[in-house]
Amino acid sequence: MSAPVSDQLNRPLRDLRISLTDRCNFRCGYCMPKALFGTNHAFMPRAELLTFEEITRLAGVFTQLGVRKLRLTGGEPLIRRDIDKLVAMLAAIDDIDDISLTTNASLLSLEKAQALKAAGLNRITVSLDGIDEATFQTMNDVGFPVGKVLNGIANAERAGLAPIKINMVVQRGVNDHDIINMANHFRGTDHIVRFIEYMDVGNSNGWRLDQVMPSKEVATLIDAHWPIEPVSPNYLGEVAKRYRYTDGRGEIGLISSVSQPFCGDCSRARLSAEGKLFTCLFASDGHPVRDELRRGASDVALYDYLAGIWQKRSDRYSQIRSHQTKPINTQKIEMSYIGG
Ligand code: GTP
Ligand code: 5AD
Ligand code: SF4
Ligand code: SF4
Repeated sequence: MSAPVSDQLNRPLRDLRISLTDRCNFRCGYCMPKALFGTNHAFMPRAELLTFEEITRLAGVFTQLGVRKLRLTGGEPLIRRDIDKLVAMLAAIDDIDDISLTTNASLLSLEKAQALKAAGLNRITVSLDGIDEATFQTMNDVGFPVGKVLNGIANAERAGLAPIKINMVVQRGVNDHDIINMANHFRGTDHIVRFIEYMDVGNSNGWRLDQVMPSKEVATLIDAHWPIEPVSPNYLGEVAKRYRYTDGRGEIGLISSVSQPFCGDCSRARLSAEGKLFTCLFASDGHPVRDELRRGASDVALYDYLAGIWQKRSDRYSQIRSHQTKPINTQKIEMSYIGG
C-alpha cells in the first residue's frame, strides 16, 4: 500500500476532481441545455450522494496512489450545503497540496468565500462565458446578470482566494464577439481569463466542429489588440497554455482540448457525486467506488481496487477524436454529472 501508480501510458495519478452535485442553477447550452435538463429531469437522489465522510476517506486513499491536487466541482458545487465543512476535512489530509473549486460564483457571498478560505480552500475558478450582459444571459439561459457573478468574484478576492481564474467557453457565433471585451475587462487585474475550446462532452449539446474557435485564432485576435507572449507552464501537464501581455498588464490562458489535445500528460481522475470514478472526461461509464465503500472495504482493499482501475487505464479520447474531427459515436457521460 501507499505507492504511486501509473497507467498503461505511463501517466501518474496526481489530480482528483470531485463532483459534489449534478444540479446547477444555470442552464448553459453547451452543458445543461434546457430542453434536456427541464423540470422533469431526474437529478441524483440525496441518499445516492457520497457523504462528506465518504469523500474524505476516499481522498485520503487517493493520496496514497499519488494524488496531490483536489478540485471540487459540480454541477454547481455551492448548491451543496456546508461545503466549507468538507473543505476543512479535506485540508486536514496529509499530502494534499492544493484544493480548488470550480463555480459559477452566483452563490458566492462574502461570508461563504471567507468560510471557504478559513477552511483551507486555496483558490477558485469561475465559469463566466461573457461580460456583455445580453451575451452572458444567452449563455447561462436563466437570465442571470453579469454583475452578480462579478460580485462573487470580488468576494473571493476579498477573502484572499487567489489566483482567481475565469473560464470562458468560446462558442463561435454565440459568444466569440465578446472575447476582446472579456480580455479587456480583466486586463490589469490579477485574475487570469482562460479561453476554452468548446468540446464534444456528453451527448446533449449537439456539438459541431464549426462551433469551435481554435485557440490559435483567439491568440491572434487578442495579440492584435494587446501583444501577448508565452509563459512557461506552472507544472507538467498544465491544461492551459499561459500567455502574458507584453505591457505587463496580466496573464491569460488558452485551453485547446480540441485543436491540440493534451491526453499525453493527463493525470486526472474524476469522482461523480454518487461515487463513480471516471478515468476520462469522455468515458461512457464509471467504476462504482461507492459500492466498495458501502460494502465495508478496508483502506487497503480500496487502495487495491483504485490502483487496479488506474493501472488498466489507456484513455486518450481527445487525441483519437482529433484525427476524426467529429465526435466519436459513443454514449458519453454529461459534464454536469462528472464535473468540469
Ligand atoms: P488548474 O491548472 O489546476 O488551475 O486547473 P485546470 O485548468 O486544469 O482545470 P479547469 O477545471 O479550470 O479546466 C479548464 C477547462 O479545461 C475545463 O473546463 C475543460 O473544458 C478543460 N479540461 C480540463 N481538464 C480536462 C481534461 O482532462 N480533458 C479535456 N479534454 N479537457 C479538460
Ligand atoms: N466544452 C468545454 N468546456 C466545458 N465545460 C462544460 N461543458 C463544456 C464543453 N462542452 C466547462 C466550462 C465550465 C466548467 C464547469 O466546465 O469550463 O467552466
Ligand atoms: Fe452550470 Fe457550469 Fe454547466 Fe453552466 S457550465 S450549466 S454553470 S455546471
Ligand atoms: Fe484526459 Fe480524457 Fe481529457 Fe484526454 S480526453 S485529457 S485522457 S480526460
